[in-house]
Amino acid sequence: MSKVRIGIIGSRFQADCVAGAAKAVPDEVEVVAVASPTKGHAADFAKRHGVARASTDYRELLRDRDVELVWITAPNRLHAQMTIDAAEAGKHVVCEKPLCMTLEEADAMIAACHKAGVLLLYAEELFFTPKYVKAKQMADEGAFGRVHLVKQGEKHSGPHSPWFWDVEQSGGGAVMDLGCHGIAFCWWFLGKPKIKSVYSQMATQVHRDRTQGEDEALTIIEFATGAIGMVESSWNRPGGMDDSIEVFGDKGQTYADLLMGNALPTYSEVGFGYAVEKAATTKGWTYPVFEEHWNYGFPQEMRHFARCVRGNETPIADGETGRVVQEVLYAAYASAGEGRKVMLPFKPKGVGKPIDLWKQEGPSTRSGG
Ligand SMILES: NC(=O)c1ccc[n+]([C@@H]2O[C@H](COP(=O)([O-])OP(=O)(O)OC[C@H]3O[C@@H](n4cnc5c(N)ncnc54)[C@H](O)[C@@H]3O)[C@@H](O)[C@H]2O)c1
Repeated sequence: MSKVRIGIIGSRFQADCVAGAAKAVPDEVEVVAVASPTKGHAADFAKRHGVARASTDYRELLRDRDVELVWITAPNRLHAQMTIDAAEAGKHVVCEKPLCMTLEEADAMIAACHKAGVLLLYAEELFFTPKYVKAKQMADEGAFGRVHLVKQGEKHSGPHSPWFWDVEQSGGGAVMDLGCHGIAFCWWFLGKPKIKSVYSQMATQVHRDRTQGEDEALTIIEFATGAIGMVESSWNRPGGMDDSIEVFGDKGQTYADLLMGNALPTYSEVGFGYAVEKAATTKGWTYPVFEEHWNYGFPQEMRHFARCVRGNETPIADGETGRVVQEVLYAAYASAGEGRKVMLPFKPKGVGKPIDLWKQEGPSTRSGG
């Protein structure tokens, strides 16, 4: 199989992760171009990762005939336009989570890729996270009997870039940022069943001076099978990233802690150079993870997407997956706004961004569910 040639849009946090994953599967992919508007950033990124071409305008990357697959790591509000432009340029697309801001955008992205005959892939790495894949294999083999409850939580001290805190650019707070992983995870783990209803409790507990978005949320997803998914999302947990799952069936259960469970419990009075994700310091007790990209599943995800581009595998995370998540995100915000469970399908019209369904009256209503 010839290497799939990737162009990355964006050059910071997730772009570094994509470039790192590409280096882990060098027989499958090659990053050949990067685009990012801030002067010097794309060029620095290209130098750092050995990427041949850098530009400040992503449209230039789309004109690059060498690029087959465009990997979008730009802020959420740009995902839809970039995807549609990439599809029209005849490129396959990988879009980072969440797929976009609105359900109309999701539908337009899917339609544009379908019309252009290109793939729209949704980068949900939890479908590839080795520990979680193992838990799913065990569940599918019946190790836990009938699984009736799946929990996923992602918690840290808050995002690294200002745009995440600006709901106009992100579409919402911790649920848009982190909850989208858990929603996708529970749905995937249970075999992608029909979703019946969503209930969510959201609040801005700590960061009212920084964001109009929710920084703490619990979201309950009811599946048509009767099983329940529970997603905990928080921007209020200092001390490093926490990503974990719990699975319960009538014959057993399993627990997996993705990061701290794959770490070296470490104490250092002086600190060390290796950054621990979302930890403010490396002094004192920390949990540095080994083989971090592999433990997350990023190289495995990339290998799968490359094989999908070559027609050798069928996507397990595509635009439709992103749309399922987007609809649950809508329902979660509406549920928190209305204080009741929201039935699916749910596609209210005229929604500018998901968080508008929770906060329709501005900052003074910023609390509670
Ligand atoms: N899968 C995951 O676990 C994961 C982790 C982090 C972020 N993400 C997602 O990836 C996306 C990027 O997040 P991030 O953490 O890398 O953010 P970031 O702020 O670190 O980087 C965003 C990048 O987008 C670039 N950008 C902004 N406007 C642009 C434009 N018009 N054209 C091209 N590039 C532009 C910025 O210059 C920057 O390089 C978000 O959608 C985020 O939700 C996914």
